[in-house]
Amino acid sequence: MANRMSPFAQWTITTQTAAETEFVASQLSRYLEGGEWLTLFGELGSGKTTFARGLVMGLTGQKTAISPTFLLVKGYLGRLTLLHIDAYRLEGMAPEEIDRQIGLRDFGDRHSVVVIEWADRVLPLLPQERLEVYFEHLPEGRSLRIRAIGAKYERLLQRWKESFYGKST
Ligand SMILES: Nc1ncnc2c1ncn2[C@@H]1O[C@H](COP(=O)(O)OP(=O)(O)OP(=O)(O)O)[C@@H](O)[C@H]1O
Ligand SMILES: [Mg+2]
Repeated sequence: MANRMSPFAQWTITTQTAAETEFVASQLSRYLEGGEWLTLFGELGSGKTTFARGLVMGLTGQKTAISPTFLLVKGYLGRLTLLHIDAYRLEGMAPEEIDRQIGLRDFGDRHSVVVIEWADRVLPLLPQERLEVYFEHLPEGRSLRIRAIGAKYERLLQRWKESFYGKST
């Protein structure tokens, strides 16, 4: 259940600049295998799109990623297909209605990765197992509090951390 936490299930990092947030995300992209759900939480301007941009860069080499706020979903073809969703405008919409309109539950197969901004607005539609990233404003920069739910995501988080600290952690 939610209280079971392995040593690899959580990680908090701080980034001073948007470029650092992009770099951290592009590092994560190296360890994605397909089928992952990456769920982003945090207030306006906290760095969610910046993080998604780093994933796009890492997976496709494309330098720009627009926010899909007015599109809901934007896809990027690369080593894996990245589906970038922005659920901001879905506040107050019933989960069944969201699912009927954009088919969220059907997203993500073993060749694609789903990244969702404002994931709290579609919580009932998300798989139980996922990587969660909570973004917060700091006086200087942002904090990224990462939580892995499920064995696959714990392994992913472990690899991602090792890319920063080496295997000793
Ligand atoms: N350490 C940092 N990480 C990410 N963004 C940063 C950082 N420091 C400053 N910024 C700036 O903060 C803003 C973050 O915007 P971004 O669009 O990524 O946020 P968001 O969480 O997607 O917002 P929204 O909720 O409106 O979608 C950008 O202007 C970026 O340059
Ligand atoms: Mg955004």
